[in-house]
Amino acid sequence: MAPSPPSATPREAPAPLGVAMIGYAFMGKAHSQAWRSVGAFFDVPAVEQRVLVGRHAEDVAEAAARYGWAESATDWREAIARDDVHIVDICAPGWLHAEIAIAALEAGKHVLVEKPLANSLAEAERMVDAARAARARGVASMVGFNYRRVPALAYARQLIADGRLGTVREVRASYLQDWLADEDAPMTWRLRRETAGSGALGDIASHAIDQVQFLTGDTVIDASGRLHTFVGRRPGPDGPEDVTVDDAAWATLSLASGAVASVEVSRAATGRKNSLRLEVYGSAGALAFDLERLGELEFLDATVPAEEQGFRRIVVTEPGHPYMDAWWPQGHMIGWEHTFTHEVRDFLAAIRDGGEPSPSFEEGLQVQRVLAAIEESAAAKSAAVAL
Ligand SMILES: NC(=O)c1ccc[n+]([C@@H]2O[C@H](COP(=O)([O-])OP(=O)(O)OC[C@H]3O[C@@H](n4cnc5c(N)ncnc54)[C@H](O)[C@@H]3O)[C@@H](O)[C@H]2O)c1
Repeated sequence: MAPSPPSATPREAPAPLGVAMIGYAFMGKAHSQAWRSVGAFFDVPAVEQRVLVGRHAEDVAEAAARYGWAESATDWREAIARDDVHIVDICAPGWLHAEIAIAALEAGKHVLVEKPLANSLAEAERMVDAARAARARGVASMVGFNYRRVPALAYARQLIADGRLGTVREVRASYLQDWLADEDAPMTWRLRRETAGSGALGDIASHAIDQVQFLTGDTVIDASGRLHTFVGRRPGPDGPEDVTVDDAAWATLSLASGAVASVEVSRAATGRKNSLRLEVYGSAGALAFDLERLGELEFLDATVPAEEQGFRRIVVTEPGHPYMDAWWPQGHMIGWEHTFTHEVRDFLAAIRDGGEPSPSFEEGLQVQRVLAAIEESAAAKSAAVAL
């Protein structure tokens, strides 16, 4: 008797989800690492890195081979139309987010898009419309605010939600980098308004604002802001070029609960490399974090006698800390790139379980509204702008 042909049985593993990624430079490299490693550490549906997309055939083919992609392509529209592509991961600059994300969602593909959601409020609103329509058809979408997946910050959110800080009163969020401190640093797409939307504001204040809302579970309701550009012209490919975005931004924010937050960001803060610092002060305790020491969280419990109080350093590597049971024994540190593995882990788990991944496009839009309010306020001598 001829053997029966292979058939789908309950024991058969489901077919892997095919991934297409658009963009293969900074974030493309980081996300590739996540797609490559996620299945080795977390219990998630199987994925295949099917196709990497860029503009230059030779360069993208070389990157695809290095980063573990089966194929490469130069047209993102063709890539998202493929039947063997189920997930589209957008690691291209902001001016492409809306067009690619909306097309992919309409084609029925799950979409992970890098932050900020878009370059403008109007684009972000259109993306939310597309995400809602897709969600009704079982198609997932998520924004890549990866710092939510730093175990210390995910744990800080838990402590706050558990009431360990009492009533949250103040949040201080700063994100300081120095890659634009050198006035001869060249022009890039990040320094042109038409390609980046804004400067330090959209690039790194978006992370800081997302953290303010993520850590507290609260919502920004008004903003007062200021923007500044320290170096107005920089060397471009065809000679000096005007910088059309901010180098630094400041804001004070009111939260719905009555708490207040300050945000300070700069890409010209000499000596600060990638310093996202967050401090949260409540009636019963306080927390402090610095991304340059991302495995640590400082916690002060103000309910113990004053004589015993002090910030204690928690090494966030216990199996009970978020994400850490998948990695190494306690004290064996993980790093920045693991946040992307956690991001992809959560996205895949939501797709498998039919859950709604967070941060959703709606949450991305809320951050975009805060960014827009800060810009509007800055143009009006820092007058407070309601969201
Ligand atoms: N989560 C984070 O911590 C973080 C850090 C840096 C950047 N980002 C975000 O990631 C996104 C990309 O930033 P980046 O730093 O990786 O930029 P990058 O300049 O390093 O890379 C951009 C990539 O997009 C590709 N690209 C541009 N136009 C394209 C097109 N038409 N078709 C296909 N590919 C195209 C480029 O070839 C390049 O590979 C931005 O939204 C940025 O804000 C997030």
